[in-house]
Amino acid sequence: MHERILGIETSCDETAAAVVQDGRTVLSNVVHSQVALHARWRGVVPEVASRSHTERILPIVEAALRQAEVAPGDLDAVAVTHRPGMVGCLLVGLAAAKALCWRFSLPLLGVDHVQAHVHTGFLADPDLPLPALALVASGGHTALYLVHAPGRTERLGTTRDDAAGEALDKGAALLGLPYPGGPAIERAAVGGDPRAVALPRTLLGPDSLDFSFSGLKTALLYTLQPQGSPPPAGPPTGQRLQDLAAAYQEAVVDVLVAKLRRASERHPVRSLCIGGGVARNLRLRERLASDPQLAALHLVLPDPALCADNAAMVASLGATLRRQGLAAELDLDAIATPQSGGKAKVRP
Ligand code: KG4
Ligand code: ZN
Repeated sequence: MHERILGIETSCDETAAAVVQDGRTVLSNVVHSQVALHARWRGVVPEVASRSHTERILPIVEAALRQAEVAPGDLDAVAVTHRPGMVGCLLVGLAAAKALCWRFSLPLLGVDHVQAHVHTGFLADPDLPLPALALVASGGHTALYLVHAPGRTERLGTTRDDAAGEALDKGAALLGLPYPGGPAIERAAVGGDPRAVALPRTLLGPDSLDFSFSGLKTALLYTLQPQGSPPPAGPPTGQRLQDLAAAYQEAVVDVLVAKLRRASERHPVRSLCIGGGVARNLRLRERLASDPQLAALHLVLPDPALCADNAAMVASLGATLRRQGLAAELDLDAIATPQSGGKAKVRP
């Protein structure tokens, strides 16, 4: 008998539902993106996001069940993102999940969104060699994890200021490019020379596995408008724009790759996987695939649809929680912050 879990995700600006079989086979993966709704504000407006989730959640859940050809009564559990995220948004997914669990007597599984991004590695490759190193790079989070087993991770480092995706979104705004900035910069960088403009790579201390991207954004600002000079007439165009976008993208990718190298020197990992919206970036994927220092590791680059916010990763991690007997009560709370990741011990 197969296990079928419905996953629900509403932590940010995607309303998503998916059905995953036996923790690894995606039967459906439905995502409604609110990007168009938030584009004019260049970022997610919490009240607008939660209202849109409320409008969309039931049709999206119905579509996921229909596409998977599973009736709600035939589900084995419902997994829902309950942290971290905007509380008003999380509550919409939670309310839907709880209602289904109550009506159909199903176990409820509360999933951490960042852990679900980490877990994407297992969805992409159920035989992921362990221990693994996982990079989560998204609009809200940039962190490195040591993965010992499904659902058992140790945080090695995190961002001290902006997330990688946030840096790309803010950089794109400075360059006059649309929101979301990551894909806009990736497109604008085509044909650009990343060495044409010098931008900093902040690596923090020699041992640090943390990230910092706010200096990069400021450096771009001063490149566009040197201190003491009048504001430019308009955003850069043509070759200059391509070079700036390529240089900015390269600076973000360089830091991510450098930290992964550093972490792999320190921890005896067998594989490397990536998740989060920034993991869709082709330049990052290319650099990881061709890096000589990382070549010994089994590299997992999940399908881009599994890197962006989705509910398949939530259902898949939910399957692990169910196996571990970690069902939640129906009073499960929405929590704004991520699960605290214990600091990993560094190998001498
Ligand atoms: O994981 P995600 O969909 O949502 C959050 O949990 O934040 O990540 C969204 C972030 C945005 O900052 C967006 O600019 C970035 O991922 N992103 C990309 C690409 N596609 C999305 N960054 C670089 N290259 C891309 N192709
Ligand atoms: Zn995310």
